[in-house]
Amino acid sequence: MAKKEKTIEALLKEKRTFSPSKKFTEKAHVNSDAVYRRAKRNPEKFWEDFAKELDWFKKWRKVLSWKPPHAKWFTGGKINVSYNCLDRHLSSERKNKAAIIWESESGESVVLTYWDLYREVNRFANVLKGLGVKKGDVVTIYLPMVPELAIAMLACARIGAPHSIVFGGFSAESLSGRINDSKSKVLITSDGGYRRGGIVPLKKNADDALKRSKSVKKMVVVKRVGSEAKVRMKKGRDYWWHDLMENSHAYCEPERMDSEDMLFILYTSGTTGKPKGIVHTTGGYLVGAYATTKWVFDLKEEDTYWCTADIGWVTGHSYIIYGPLANGATSLMYEGAPDYPDIGRFWAIVEKYAVTIFYTAPTAIRAFMRWGEEHPQKYDLTSLRLLGSVGEPINPEAWIWYHTHIGGKKCPIVDTWWQTETGSILISALPGITKLKPGSATLPFPTIEADIVDEDGKTIKEGAGYLVIKSPWPSMLRTIYGDPERYVEQYWSRFPGMYFTGDGAKRDKDGYLWVLGRVDDVMNVAGHRLSTMEVESALVDHPSVVESAVVGRTDQLKGQAIVAFTTLKKDLKTSAKLVGDLRQHVAKKIGAIARPDEIIFTAELPKTRSGKIMRRLLRNIAEGSVLGDTTTLADPGVVKELKEKYEDKE
Ligand code: PRX
Repeated sequence: MAKKEKTIEALLKEKRTFSPSKKFTEKAHVNSDAVYRRAKRNPEKFWEDFAKELDWFKKWRKVLSWKPPHAKWFTGGKINVSYNCLDRHLSSERKNKAAIIWESESGESVVLTYWDLYREVNRFANVLKGLGVKKGDVVTIYLPMVPELAIAMLACARIGAPHSIVFGGFSAESLSGRINDSKSKVLITSDGGYRRGGIVPLKKNADDALKRSKSVKKMVVVKRVGSEAKVRMKKGRDYWWHDLMENSHAYCEPERMDSEDMLFILYTSGTTGKPKGIVHTTGGYLVGAYATTKWVFDLKEEDTYWCTADIGWVTGHSYIIYGPLANGATSLMYEGAPDYPDIGRFWAIVEKYAVTIFYTAPTAIRAFMRWGEEHPQKYDLTSLRLLGSVGEPINPEAWIWYHTHIGGKKCPIVDTWWQTETGSILISALPGITKLKPGSATLPFPTIEADIVDEDGKTIKEGAGYLVIKSPWPSMLRTIYGDPERYVEQYWSRFPGMYFTGDGAKRDKDGYLWVLGRVDDVMNVAGHRLSTMEVESALVDHPSVVESAVVGRTDQLKGQAIVAFTTLKKDLKTSAKLVGDLRQHVAKKIGAIARPDEIIFTAELPKTRSGKIMRRLLRNIAEGSVLGDTTTLADPGVVKELKEKYEDKE
């Protein structure tokens, strides 16, 4: 049996259940399942009640306008996200409460109270205005995990300039592609960023990107590493963050944004070679992020909440910044890697700040598991009361390990399913009431009509199929930036009238959902989303390569690993050096996360008679499973040879 099937089999055989303790339930925001019934009776009222907990300049006229597949939420409402994350907390005791606790890779901490953050955001908002940024102008942010990243995004939100944050691990070329698509005029970066003691040359990457991105007229550079980074500032284009901030005024009026004005674009990999700019708007997104943070993480005034994601991904947008700050919470932000300077680093941080809620990815949990429980055992983790998981399916073994060795068998685990497109969590336990099953994301959040359907879009009551969402939710993407047709085609055409997630999932007899993974050409590598075609384009860009087909195969640690079947130019010899060069080439084109784990050279790729590469076969070969039907192949010999070659390697 193929490895992937074995993993899924094990997942679905899981029978253990875990109920929250009485003590947890008693104090939880949600302690009765009546919320599901209430939400079902009147979904719009459910969301409206959350919206009322936020501050609006002008109340909405209508909660939902739904012209499938286009939704508008809280129409007519006027609101500002930065106002809701900052100003509205200043008149209470939250004014001097830690909004962001920042821990640097080297162990230094910086605490920004709500007042501190408010002041910095206001000043930077004025800096942006001074650079000519106006409401509606897209600002690209390419920063490491430093406080200035939080400040910059909130400043954009304050003046109504949508931000497009590009993860600091992406290459110059990826950055330039995203800038060109969004046509942004301002780029915010830093001289460099620390990663495992080394320096990532962000400014240099930004300079390289700007050779191909002419729309950017101004660049703001945060000094993070100082003299260790050799940066060249271009006169009239590049400015130091601290110079601009020096004389910047301390108050900037928050822009009255329409509920449906754009808040941000975030690029993510789809099924084609080109990442798509997912568009999120203001009112609905904030309500979704606010409500789910409050209920799924059971967030309270006294919590110290830590989401380990990078703000360059959607998890960081919604659950480091917007959700927690809209709730007036204390959100921890860590600059560095989990294993630096040693593999106890995360637990040292939990102990240092007495973290109460901890949210991370299964890939990290599996790494901790492999490193051994003796590392977390060295630290006091008793402050923890709730754990979370996101980004990929969590295997029951990792779930149990997390529950036992990190949660001390007392913390509920919320396995949260969602996507860049969904903006906020759509499937998750509510920790005070849901009976947990290790490996299952459990149940849809109240009002969310998640369903499992067959090829024809018919509901599968019990069993596996495609995961779809059948009605709109406030934080859903509104479109793909600059490509409205692709929005309709990508998400709403496979099953008419339903949002197609691209995931496969199974429903058990209790109605619990078990997300199995992507069913399209999107890979999930260590919780990072990548398209097979992006990696293929990077490979064929190398002068030695003629053709390439990339597939994801099951990996014990990373969830999926990247396998690239590659055909070289005639007469070229394969060598270990060439493998290294090709891997490096992909890293340079996209970023280190896209570096193939394996490159298999082949004289030809298996194709159908009409010339289409048979990816299913390649996936089967990579998984080590039986070949299946090869009768439609133009030359079945190619597959046999490939399979033999692949098996030889193992
Ligand atoms: O395949 C699902 C997986 O991650 C994909 C979304 O990736 P991205 O947009 O990068 O957002 C990741 C963080 C929200 C989904 O289509 N995924 C996300 N969470 C889970 C998951 N798979 C299983 N279980 C989850 N909890």
